Amino acid sequence: MRRKGDEFSFLLVLTSLLITTTFSNAMDVINATHMITEGQTLISSDGSFELGFFSPGNSKNKYVGIWYKKITAFTVVWVANRDNPLTNTSGTVLKVIEHGILALLNGSNAIVWSSNTSGVVQNPVAQLLDSGNLVVKEANDDDSEKYLWQSFDYPTDALLPGMKLGWNFVTSHEAYITAWKSSEDPGTGDYAYRLDPTGYPQAVLRRRSVELFRSGPWNGVGYSGLPALKNNSIYTFEVVFDKNQAYFHYELRNKSVLSRLSINQSGVAQRWTWVDRTQGWIMHLTAPVDNCDTYKQCGVYGTCNIGVSLICGCLTKFISRKPHEWMADDWSDGCVRRVPLDCKSDGFRKYSDIKLPDTKYSWFNASMTLEECKVVCLKNCSCSAYTNLDIRRGGTGCLLWFEDLVDIKVVYGAGQDLYVRVASSELNSNGTKRKTLTAVLTSLGAIFLLGLILFIWKRRKNYENMRKEEGHEEGHEEGHEEDLELPTFDLLTITQATNSFTTSYKLGEGGFGPVYRGMLEDGEEIAVKRLSRTSLQGLDEFKNEVIFIAKLQHRNLVKLLGCCIQGEEKMLIYEYMANGSLDLILFDKAKGKQLNWPKRFHIINGIARGLLYLHQDSRLRIIHRDLKASNILLDTDMNPKISDFGTARSFAGNETEANTMRVVGTYGYMSPEYAIDGVFSTKSDVYSFGVLVLEIVSGQKNRGFHHKDHHHNLLGHAWILHKERRSMELANVNLADSFNFSQVVRSIHVGLLCVQQSPEDRPSMSSVVLMLGSEGVLPQPKQPGFFAERDVFAAESTTSTKASSSNNVTFTLLDAR
Ligand SMILES: *[C@@H]1O[C@H](CO)[C@@H](O)[C@H](O)[C@H]1NC(C)=O
Ligand SMILES: *[C@@H]1O[C@H](CO)[C@@H](O)[C@H](O)[C@H]1NC(C)=O
Ligand SMILES: *[C@@H]1O[C@H](CO)[C@@H](O)[C@H](O)[C@H]1NC(C)=O
Ligand SMILES: *[C@@H]1O[C@H](CO)[C@@H](O)[C@H](O)[C@H]1NC(C)=O
Ligand SMILES: *[C@@H]1O[C@H](CO)[C@@H](O)[C@H](O)[C@H]1NC(C)=O
Ligand SMILES: *[C@@H]1O[C@H](CO)[C@@H](O)[C@H](O)[C@H]1NC(C)=O
Ligand SMILES: *[C@@H]1O[C@H](CO)[C@@H](O)[C@H](O)[C@H]1NC(C)=O
Ligand SMILES: *[C@@H]1O[C@H](CO)[C@@H](O)[C@H](O)[C@H]1NC(C)=O
Ligand SMILES: *[C@@H]1O[C@H](CO)[C@@H](O)[C@H](O)[C@H]1NC(C)=O
Repeated sequence: MRRKGDEFSFLLVLTSLLITTTFSNAMDVINATHMITEGQTLISSDGSFELGFFSPGNSKNKYVGIWYKKITAFTVVWVANRDNPLTNTSGTVLKVIEHGILALLNGSNAIVWSSNTSGVVQNPVAQLLDSGNLVVKEANDDDSEKYLWQSFDYPTDALLPGMKLGWNFVTSHEAYITAWKSSEDPGTGDYAYRLDPTGYPQAVLRRRSVELFRSGPWNGVGYSGLPALKNNSIYTFEVVFDKNQAYFHYELRNKSVLSRLSINQSGVAQRWTWVDRTQGWIMHLTAPVDNCDTYKQCGVYGTCNIGVSLICGCLTKFISRKPHEWMADDWSDGCVRRVPLDCKSDGFRKYSDIKLPDTKYSWFNASMTLEECKVVCLKNCSCSAYTNLDIRRGGTGCLLWFEDLVDIKVVYGAGQDLYVRVASSELNSNGTKRKTLTAVLTSLGAIFLLGLILFIWKRRKNYENMRKEEGHEEGHEEGHEEDLELPTFDLLTITQATNSFTTSYKLGEGGFGPVYRGMLEDGEEIAVKRLSRTSLQGLDEFKNEVIFIAKLQHRNLVKLLGCCIQGEEKMLIYEYMANGSLDLILFDKAKGKQLNWPKRFHIINGIARGLLYLHQDSRLRIIHRDLKASNILLDTDMNPKISDFGTARSFAGNETEANTMRVVGTYGYMSPEYAIDGVFSTKSDVYSFGVLVLEIVSGQKNRGFHHKDHHHNLLGHAWILHKERRSMELANVNLADSFNFSQVVRSIHVGLLCVQQSPEDRPSMSSVVLMLGSEGVLPQPKQPGFFAERDVFAAESTTSTKASSSNNVTFTLLDAR
C-alpha cells in the first residue's frame, strides 16, 4: 500500500514537470492532417519512446524532446529546439510543412525549429521509430537509405544504440554529442565528444576548441587508451572506417535492455544502463578516467603514470627538457632524446603497456606487416615511431608517427606496444650507464679516492667489530675489498638531483633514513637513501646494506647505482622505482585496482625468485630478516624488487639457523621462533614471505586485520577459510574479473604452508617456486604460527627487541619507531 502511495506522488511530480498529455492517442506519425500541440505526444509503435513538449527541472521554458516511455525516471535523450526554447506554447504546433520539412511553429506562425530536410517526396510524414529515431520520410517507405532527415544524425547529449558518432565523408556531415548547458537548460554546452578521423580515428573530448582528452586510436578491439571499454554482456561496439565514413557505434545484445552513452555537464562521457525501478540507471563507464587522461599532461615524449606520486616521467632513454621545472610539477616542456638521432643509424626501442600517442599526425596502411612498417619508418628521418594498426590476429597493419609523440599514458596490462626511434647507441641497454658511472668515478680525483679507501677501510674495521659482537651468526665468506666496486657520486650532484632534499622530493622513510626521488643531469631518475644523523642503528644498517647489495645482482632485487659519502653525509643511490613500494598500492582501495590477478601473481613469483636467489643462489647466501610489503619496490612494469638489506645476515653454506641478541624485523611478518627466541634461519624469511603472499591475494594487512566473526589476524582468517574450503573468499574484490581460480587457491595454499608454526614444516624457497609454478598436489598446511595473536604487539613498524635465547621469553621493546 505504502509503495503505491509513493509511486503516486512520484507520478504527480512527473506530470507537473512534464505537463504531459492526458489524452495521448498513441500515434507515432505526424502528417499533413495530424500534428502535435502541447499536451499531445507521439509514442513509438512498441511504446519504447515518446516525443512531446517538456520543461526540464524548474525551468519555465518549453522544449520538444524524446524520452524513454517505459521507465519511471524521466530521461530525455534528444531535444529539437535545444537552443531556441519556447516561452509561450499557446498556438504552438509541431507539423510537417511544405517540402517535407518538420517544423515547430509558435503562436504567430514563426519557425522556432525545423528539420534540415533534403529531397522531395509525394507524401512526407514524420515518424518516431522504436529505436528513438525521429525520421522524415515518404509515407509507407521504410527504407532507411531514403530517409529525408533523421534525428539520429543530430544527437544532443546522448548516443543511443544505432546512432553513429562520427563522419560521413560524402556529405561532410559530422554527428557528435554535446553536453547540456545545465540540468535546466538543454542548450548546446561547451563540452563535446566527437570522433577525430585525422591520422587515424580516435575519440576526443573538447571544451569549445580546447582538446581535453582523447581515447587513443582504435585498434580493432577497442580504443588504445580506454581499456574499460571492453567486450561485455550488454552491448557490442566498433569503429567503422573506410573512404566514405568514420564512426563509432554500438548495438545492444538484448534489445529490451536500456543503455545509453551520454556526456554530462562537466564533460564526462558516461555509459548508463537501466536496472530496475529501485536501482534506476547505473553508470558503469566514464571517460576521462583519471589525471593522466588530461591531454598532453606530460608534454612531448613524456609518459603519465597514475600509480606514482609524481605522475609524469619521460619515456626511458628520454630526458626532461628542463629538469628543474619538470621536477616542480611543470611538465609542459616535456622530454627530449638523451642521445640525439643521426637519422642513418637509428633504431627502434619497444615500449609496452602504453596508450598510443596522439594520431593526428600519423599515417597508416592496413595491409602492411609490422616488419614492413619498420622499414618504411626507418627510411624517413622524420618518422618518430611505428606500431601495429590492429591488435587482432597477432597484430596487423602499420601506423606511423611523423611528429613528436604526445599524450602517452601507462595503461597496465591493457596498453599496446610502441616502437620509438632512438639513437643506435641507446639500443644496447646497459652500455651507457656503465660508461657514465665509470666517468664519474675517474673524475673524482685523488681526495675523493682517498676518502673512498678510508671508508672501505673503516667499514671493514667496523664490520669486523660487528662480526665479533654478533658471534657466529656472521657466517659470511671472506669478502674481498676489491669486490666492492661501488661508484661514488659527489654531494653536489646529489643535492642538485634532489633539489636540495626538498620535502616534495621525499618518497618515504627507509630503514635508516629518508628516501628522496631525484634526477641526474642526464635525466636518469634515481632514489637516494640518506643516512639520518639521529639514527643510532643507522650506520650499521647503512654499512650492512652496502656490503650486501653491492654484491648482489638479480632482477628481483633493487639495484644500487652507487654511494655518496662526504663529510657527515652518507647516502646510497638506487635505480628509481616508478611505482614505489608495494604497500602503498596494495593496501590502498583506489590504487589496489591497478593490481589485477596476473600482476599480483607476477609479483608473488618475482618475490619468490628474489628470495630464492638470496637464500641459495647468491654467493653470499643471505637471510633478509625484514621482508614486508613496504620493502618490495615496483618498477614501471610492476616487476617486484626486494629492497632494504640493512638488517640482512649472511650465513655459511652448511649453517641452517643462527641466534641473535638483537631481534630486528617487523611484527606481523616475524616468525614465532624469531620474535620469541631470536632464532632465525631461511625459514623465518619463508614465514614472512607467506604473510606477504596472503596480503597480496587479499589486499589486507596481516596486522590490523579485523573480522566480525572472530579475533584472528589475516593468517588465522585464511587458515579458517582454507579448512572450510572457502579460500576464494580471501581474494580481493578488485580481482573480480581477472581471477585465475586455480592460481589464487594455490597461492593461498602455498602462503599457508609458509606460515606454519614450526620452521621444519615450512617449505624452502626452491620448493615454493616449484609449487607456485606447477599443478601438482600440495601437502596440507598445519596451523599457522601467531595466527590468533593480533593483540600481543601494539606497534606495527620495524622494531628491535632484546630477546633471550632461552625458552623463558623476555620481551623488551627497544626501538619502536
Ligand atoms: C495521417 O495519419 C493518420 C493516422 O495514421 C491517418 O488516419 C490519416 O489518414 C493520415 N493523413 C494523411 C493525409 O495521410
Ligand atoms: C514567435 O517567434 C517570433 C520569432 O522568434 C517572435 O517574434 C514572436 O513573438 C513569437 N510569438 C509568440 C506568440 O511567442
Ligand atoms: C501567449 O500567447 C498568447 C497569444 O499568442 C497570449 O494570449 C497569451 O497571453 C500569452 N501568454 C503569456 C503567458 O504570455
Ligand atoms: C542544412 O544542411 C545543409 C547541407 O545539407 C547545410 O549546409 C546547412 O548548414 C544545414 N542547416 C542547418 C540549419 O543545419
Ligand atoms: C564477449 O562477451 C560475450 C558476452 O559477455 C561473449 O559471449 C563473447 O564470446 C565475448 N567475445 C569475445 C571475443 O570475448
Ligand atoms: C532481455 O532483457 C529482458 C529485460 O531485462 C529480459 O526479460 C529477457 O529475458 C532478456 N532476453 C534475453 C534473451 O536475455
Ligand atoms: C559528471 O560526472 C562526473 C563523474 O561521473 C561527476 O563527478 C560530475 O559531478 C558530473 N557533473 C555533473 C554536472 O553532474
Ligand atoms: C599499403 O601497403 C601495401 C603493401 O605494402 C601496398 O601495396 C599499398 O600500395 C600500400 N597502400 C598505400 C595507400 O600506401
Ligand atoms: C617523410 O614523411 C613526411 C610525412 O609523410 C613527408 O612529408 C616527407 O616527404 C617524407 N620524406 C621522405 C624523404 O620520404
